[in-house]
Amino acid sequence: MDVVILDSSDAVAAEGAKRIRALLGEKPNAVLGLATGRTPLSMYKQLASDCEQGRVSFAEVTTFNLDEYVGLNADDPQSYRYFMNRELFDQIDIDQSNTNLPMCEPGVNPVSVGPQYEAAIWAAGGIDLQVLGIGQNGHIGFNEPTSSLNSRTRVKTLTRETLGRNSQYFDDPDGQPLIAVTMGIATILDAATVLLLATGHDKAAAIQQLVEGPVSAMWPATALQLHERVTVLIDDAAASRLEKRDYYDWVGQQRQRLQSQFDGE
Ligand code: PGA
Repeated sequence: MDVVILDSSDAVAAEGAKRIRALLGEKPNAVLGLATGRTPLSMYKQLASDCEQGRVSFAEVTTFNLDEYVGLNADDPQSYRYFMNRELFDQIDIDQSNTNLPMCEPGVNPVSVGPQYEAAIWAAGGIDLQVLGIGQNGHIGFNEPTSSLNSRTRVKTLTRETLGRNSQYFDDPDGQPLIAVTMGIATILDAATVLLLATGHDKAAAIQQLVEGPVSAMWPATALQLHERVTVLIDDAAASRLEKRDYYDWVGQQRQRLQSQFDGE
């Protein structure tokens, strides 16, 4: 696990955007796994501006989002589809028919959505880079604590804690769905690379578990310790409970030193 600690949330967004630009520079038709939530917003803003300035193109990109509420229409302002259109897809040159969320609109049997979504990811050739946030309780996607570390895309009942935190986005509390469809942990682990972003003190405990805790379904993000290519991109606040902080900084210095030897080649 590559732990990259930067001095601000802006720096985290800039570094995340840089890594996505680099991937698309090498592979313009990459498949991206995307996340909703507060954390990736500045990175999406940066990518939209990069796209406008011609520094990156999403014209050949396919995307798969992590999760979506059950029972909301795509045009419902509370849906993650609506969020992604507003915050990213409408701002970039992507072909919207290549953007995917595990939609479960009213009338659709939620149990059918997961296998279809898994098949669509497979048919697209798998995810090259999965962007993740992390919940205060260590969830990734909507894989709440006690989720199987071997889970696939499926229906998940949200914890009261997650519902409470996300209720701020719903004017009418009765309109907040209690269940969602989420990529599973095994689905996430299938991605070729993972880029997890976290900022702020409220994520420090989850980040400490993710990087230094034992692998456990009680902190679902710890399953990422089993993945070969994960970058954890965090600010100082989110890093504040890491016990081996000195070591991660030291590794970063060595990486830069090594890289500088090859710069200009
Ligand atoms: P946040 O959500 O980015 O809004 O903090 C992250 C998550 O719950 O996965």
